[in-house]
Amino acid sequence: MKTVTLFPSILAKHHLSNYSDNLLDVVKSESFSPSHNNNGGYSHDNTNILDLKEFKAVKKEILITAKDFIKNHLGHEVKKIKISGSWANKLQKNNLVPLHYHINSYVSGVLYLSKGTPIEFHTPVKPTPIFPMIKKHTKYTAPSYSVKPKKGLCVLFPANFMHSVASSQEDQERYSIGFNIVPLGKIGFPTANITIV
Ligand SMILES: [Fe+2]
Repeated sequence: MKTVTLFPSILAKHHLSNYSDNLLDVVKSESFSPSHNNNGGYSHDNTNILDLKEFKAVKKEILITAKDFIKNHLGHEVKKIKISGSWANKLQKNNLVPLHYHINSYVSGVLYLSKGTPIEFHTPVKPTPIFPMIKKHTKYTAPSYSVKPKKGLCVLFPANFMHSVASSQEDQERYSIGFNIVPLGKIGFPTANITIV
């Protein structure tokens, strides 16, 4: 029997070499408001946190990593990209992040500033109409993939990937920075192009 792997998905994990522990203090010094999602923790009022001077080196490294991901793994021809928004999230005990994807974004990401409850990425493949019990999931049947937060870990993913965080059961607060990346310049082909400045 010959098998063929079809339509796989991809995300990137990169530990930022420019990460330093004092970035968490910078994040904590900014104001947070309750997230618009019920029980969804708190989000920064500053939606361009990565533009602060303290994040200069981290932001540069994220953009270099994202360019590599886009060019060498997604195979897209994109000359320039920018971070269009970035905001910190704080989850306390019993806070969760409901299932969502990022609108008005191309590649999105998250940078972790602490440990905490894993982020779950959910398969875009629809389940078969007849769904037998599965003894052991393989990479072809797994409904989700989880990433455990770690200080300085950056995860990049196509913005349409559905993801969530289960209710935090830890006493310590969980801090992360979410961000969106868009391509710049003329994108697409003659009958379907857009210019983003
Ligand atoms: Fe998200």
